[in-house]
Amino acid sequence: ETLIVLYGGRSAEREVSVMSATNVVAAIDYDKFNVKTYFIRQNGDFIQGPRFNSQPSPEMKLLDEDSSADHEKIQPSAIYEEGAVVFPVLHGPMGEDGSIQGFLEIMKLAYVGPGILSAAATMDKILSKEIFSSLGIPQVPYVAIYPGQDFVKAEEEVNAKLNYPVFVKPANMGSSVGITKVDEAGELRSALDLASKYDDRIVVEEGVVNPHEVECAALGNSEVKITLPGEVANSNPSAFYDYDEKYNNNALTIDVPAKIAPELVEEIRHYAELAYKGVAGRGLSRCDFFVDAENNIYLNEINAIPGFTAFSMYPMLWENMGLSTTDLLTELVELAKE
Ligand code: DAL
Ligand code: MG
Repeated sequence: ETLIVLYGGRSAEREVSVMSATNVVAAIDYDKFNVKTYFIRQNGDFIQGPRFNSQPSPEMKLLDEDSSADHEKIQPSAIYEEGAVVFPVLHGPMGEDGSIQGFLEIMKLAYVGPGILSAAATMDKILSKEIFSSLGIPQVPYVAIYPGQDFVKAEEEVNAKLNYPVFVKPANMGSSVGITKVDEAGELRSALDLASKYDDRIVVEEGVVNPHEVECAALGNSEVKITLPGEVANSNPSAFYDYDEKYNNNALTIDVPAKIAPELVEEIRHYAELAYKGVAGRGLSRCDFFVDAENNIYLNEINAIPGFTAFSMYPMLWENMGLSTTDLLTELVELAKE
């Protein structure tokens, strides 16, 4: 059986994608699958990468932006192989927002992970909040800013409705790109200006003071399994994790299971399942929560195609449940074919 791994991509998260895809290619069960890889360059070109019929050596390097530079691009439709399953190991816009999923639907290729609706809904921080709110899932107070909206009015609304600090986020980015923590009203405008470089839909969220960042992994289609929660910990608890801290500085550690009050665990898993079903979850997703000092739970976001690196929360949460990354990948391929 052929698994086609698509990775790289046009978003700011393409380097994470390379790490995620490398881990997927290393962990897949080669008794069951052979693997074809395709790298998507920042400009959107598809480049044919190496193929594997057996476990690659640990030194194996997939293509990246530099090493793919002198390769001929192929037509995206050339990835087609009858009966193959595609894993779009892609993060961020053009990867987990429904675009690539739409392409795969048209190509009649089965694929791992959420469909168009679910990917698009979870990528948009405003739309997903509206869905969670309609399901009665607790979230931090927020203000949505729509295209063309006057920033002076937006500032007034934020100051009237939210307490500082607030986080200003482009509605459609991932991995903290374009996000600013704002401590006082005077700094709000420049944060809005920065976010508006990335998206014309912006969300401003009330900050949770020193939150526990608690995450659950979801796996399944109509039958959904939710892991015990894990926790992202930082040596500097008041810091906000920017892109570099997340991926380059190793400032984060992951605690699995999360060090939170035991009575919160089932409540968090319940909200994770409700949210996953509410956004038409399929295959996989990671549900990210905050827990404050008074043990209030807030759903922050759902990551449709979560980081899948060797150090990522999603595969670690399943390892903790006794499901190896190898078996997890086999299960994801089975779910893709349902
Ligand atoms: N968006 C990154 C990849 C994550 O949430 O894991
Ligand atoms: Mg994300």
